[in-house]
Amino acid sequence: MRTKDKMIAGFSKFSKPEKLAWLAKHFFTSGPMDVAREFASFWHTNVEAQRLFDGISENTLTNFYMPYGVAPNFMINNKAYCIPMVIEESSVVAAAASGAKYWSNRGGFKATVLSMTKVGHVHFIWHGDPVKFYSFFNAIKDKLIAGVKDITANMEKRGGGITNLELLYLPEVEEGYYQLKADFNTCDAMGANFINSVLEGFAAILIDEAAQYEEFNGVEQDLQVVMSILSNYTPECIVRSEVSCKVGELGNFGTMDAKEFAQKFVRAVHIAKNDSYRAATHNKGIYNGIDAVVIATGNDFRAIEACGHAYAARNGKYASLSDAKIENDTFTFSITVPLAVGTVGGLTKIHPLAKRSLELLGNPSAAELMGIIASVGLAQNFAAVRSLVTTGIQKGHMKMHLNNILTHFKANPIEKESALAYFEEAAISFSSVRLYLESLRTQGQGQASLINTGS
Ligand code: MEV
Repeated sequence: MRTKDKMIAGFSKFSKPEKLAWLAKHFFTSGPMDVAREFASFWHTNVEAQRLFDGISENTLTNFYMPYGVAPNFMINNKAYCIPMVIEESSVVAAAASGAKYWSNRGGFKATVLSMTKVGHVHFIWHGDPVKFYSFFNAIKDKLIAGVKDITANMEKRGGGITNLELLYLPEVEEGYYQLKADFNTCDAMGANFINSVLEGFAAILIDEAAQYEEFNGVEQDLQVVMSILSNYTPECIVRSEVSCKVGELGNFGTMDAKEFAQKFVRAVHIAKNDSYRAATHNKGIYNGIDAVVIATGNDFRAIEACGHAYAARNGKYASLSDAKIENDTFTFSITVPLAVGTVGGLTKIHPLAKRSLELLGNPSAAELMGIIASVGLAQNFAAVRSLVTTGIQKGHMKMHLNNILTHFKANPIEKESALAYFEEAAISFSSVRLYLESLRTQGQGQASLINTGS
């Protein structure tokens, strides 16, 4: 098939069956009926529900299922939570639940929101005397705020709105480059649409006012807006969560006593604070937990990750988001992480399971949700580092992965039960499971043939 045949105009206008037929013809080797049947098998049986999911994105063919699990026994600020988690990695929910249970017996998680400021910029170019531009900005600042009142009025009624507006001149980036930087309080909303609408409003006012400003002349009247957009880097929308207990209360881990465990744990975190290779994996473990809750509650995990990783590199070197210490015989493990999440608006209103997740969490405010998510990230990180410094990660990981391997080899319930028992002791790998199932199936055939011959 020629490359040209795989390109198409007007694909979005096709009906769903037409889209599938075209894709089957040009991209799949199995027959069009097979392709259509398989994709259709994941459609929701309720037509209205399917329409809702189709409407969330574009060119929708079907639904891509992800497991929705829960991690119970989270004690956060003395409140018990059962946490919804959407994730495809097998050991994550079990690890979060295990970390949660462990700390629920040791005082639980203490979460504190440090601030909730969101930020956005109008990026523009203006050629003229910067001192003149600052005078212009001061002269029109009130007009800028008043000019977007129709957008901000509702947010202001809820206690939010624009909290600061400033002008930044940054010629080191580009000649004549300025930013109009606005800070926002978006209450319980993530606020992306609100912020972007305000910024676009500011941009239009800036252009208009510059064109009319009497002190400007010639080229100075011409203000070029490059773009108006929120920043997903929100280092001032930040939450801290911590757990702590006396070292002796940590308990023993096999032959390792509490003191040795605490020291090894702190050392492992210290490495992640200083080595970017380890920090990336360490933080990935944190986001195993964070993303799973962010997705389950209908929030934007790309924004959360982009911000978290930028924050992890805020001192010029990518480092761990969590910290651990032993002081006065007390072990403390904490995380400080930016989390611009919402509990109203966006997908939280549309996706039925996002609504259920928030209900499961007791319909929290955005601030409470920040504390919950940071605590899940910390529990996840604790469970991962605990495994790493004690048994190693593969033991638990492969145990959970065993189920996936058995599913891959289409093991029936009896084979599964037998394999789970066998691999309690034996080393788990893709090939060891395959060999085990082959031997089981050969034995089974032997027994079947014995039965068939009546022997
Ligand atoms: C695996 O998804 C996450 C871990 O690698 C995290 C870590 O190493 O800390 C286990």
